[in-house]
Parts: sequence; C-alpha cells; structure tokens
Amino acid sequence: MPDTLDQLRSVCDGCHACPLADSRTKMVFGVGNPQADLMFVGEAPGGDEDKTGIPFVGLAGQLLDKYLFAVDIPRESVYIANILKCRPPHNRDPFPAEEDACIGYLRDQVRLIDPKIIVCLGRISANRLIHPDFRISREHGQFVKKGKFLMTAVYHPAALLRDASKKEEMLLDMERIKEQLELLSAKPEG
Ligand code: URA
Repeated sequence: MPDTLDQLRSVCDGCHACPLADSRTKMVFGVGNPQADLMFVGEAPGGDEDKTGIPFVGLAGQLLDKYLFAVDIPRESVYIANILKCRPPHNRDPFPAEEDACIGYLRDQVRLIDPKIIVCLGRISANRLIHPDFRISREHGQFVKKGKFLMTAVYHPAALLRDASKKEEMLLDMERIKEQLELLSAKPEG
C-alpha cells in the first residue's frame, strides 16, 4: 500500500486495470492540499481534464471555483479528485467495472489525506460513496457520518450549467458545508 500521494500517483500513472487507460491522454490523479479537511469527489475527467491531467479545470470546474469563492473556501485549501482517474469516451457515465477497477486508488487517497468532510459532486459519486440508491435531487445537502468521515453530496456543477434553477440550492448546500467545516476545525479530533 503506497505511503505517500506521490507514490500512489506513480502507481496510477502505470495503471492498466481497465480499458480507459488505452484511450487516456493523461491520468487525472487529484489536486489540492494533501492535508485538506475538505475533499471533493467528482465523477470522471472530461476533455479538458484529460488534456491537462488536472481535475475540474473545464467549465464545470470554473463554476465549482465560483462556489468555493462565494463561501470563502480557498481552492488551494481543499483536495479534489474523481471516482475515475481516466476519461470515459464521449464523457459517458462510468461503467461499474471501471469504478471497481479505480475505486481502490480513491480509497488510498482518502486514507492518506484523511479529510474531515467528503463532498460528492453529483449522483455518480454519491451512489458510489454514500449509498447506491442516492437521489441527488432529494438528498443533496444532507450530512451522514460514514466511519470517521462526515459525508454529503451536492449537485454536479455540470448539472448546474444545464439547469440554472438549481443554483440557489447549491449555494445553500455550500454554505452548510462551510459551516460544518468551521465547526469541525474548531473541535479537536474524535
Ligand atoms: N467532471 C467531473 O466529474 N470531474 C472532472 O474532473 C471534470 C468534470
């Protein structure tokens, strides 16, 4: 088991556990503060991410940045990763077998970063990390404790680009995330 994020990144760079490795331009490992209290987990890299190797740099990522700014959470203070580290063709939903092949890397990232709060960006991530029947329209913004982590899910920023009527709820969810972060940061571990 890798002891550092750099070691884990090298393992992911050499990964051929599923066919997405053959079509990737770059593996998209994750970005941000390796000691972050707050970690965001999206679905899978899109075209911009595949080109740059950095998660959430396209339009959806720029919208996520705006929400982080709006609630005064510096992007450099958080860690951002995805369920999949390689782009599915035409941005289709990940196949379960691809998630199964990749999820161990995310688990290792979570173990090494050890965040206090994990925020799933969108349904695919929430289905995998919170519970398999997660309904994003009904359950977004609710917090659940899973093991040592406080977990929640918000709308995927790409969904907000398609449907602006969800933006108000997204801001409220992000405000609650900021509140929880402040509460947990004020309190000793445990
Ligand atoms: N959408 C995701 O879920 N992840 C990214 O990195 C970019 C877009």
